[in-house]
Amino acid sequence: MKFFIDTANLEEIKEAHSLGLLSGVTTNPSLVAKEGIQFEDRLREITSFVSGSVSAEVIATDAEGMISEGKELAKIAPNITIKVPMTPDGLKAVKVFASEGIQTNVTLIFSANQALLAARAGATYVSPFLGRLDDLGHNGIQLISEIAEIFAIHDISTEIIAASIRHPMHVTEAALNGAHIATIPYQVLMQLFKHPLTDSGIEKFLADWENRKA
Ligand code: E4P
Repeated sequence: MKFFIDTANLEEIKEAHSLGLLSGVTTNPSLVAKEGIQFEDRLREITSFVSGSVSAEVIATDAEGMISEGKELAKIAPNITIKVPMTPDGLKAVKVFASEGIQTNVTLIFSANQALLAARAGATYVSPFLGRLDDLGHNGIQLISEIAEIFAIHDISTEIIAASIRHPMHVTEAALNGAHIATIPYQVLMQLFKHPLTDSGIEKFLADWENRKA
């Protein structure tokens, strides 16, 4: 499973990139709004050093609007992936983007059928939202597992991005259940590094080194 970071914050993206494990970035209108930035400028900044997929979401809700917005965003850099919502209009737009070689990420996926529809329309990625399903008392990980099984049975190459990740167990479970990618908020990404035995082990090694016999 690959790691994407789920943020529009440049410092967080730079820090994650410097760790050497970052395969891409996802943004959404809420994340961009939180930063108070000009969207296209931020996409230029991100794609100046991130070579993997950078998801940029359209705001239009009709296919025509999504297509024209997406085509403009795609001009920013070849690794821009156009993120569209899981609606009939969204999938009409995916079909057009796919025919023009523009990568797509179908977002707000909450059922296996939605993922299958998006894949058949030509989506490069589908994004099932784990945390938002769990919040309602549903099982987000089970959805990942179902989508992964269906894609394997039918030899579908669309990649599954586990999204709406809230904690480290989501990451482990997404990997175990067949997600190709997890898009992770910065704080959760940093939590993945932590283990008390790692910290105490480092302390012990350093203490022993200080007390070594010369
Ligand atoms: C993914 O592409 C979405 O931007 C994101 O994971 C949504 O997460 P949230 O449910 O925490 O807002």
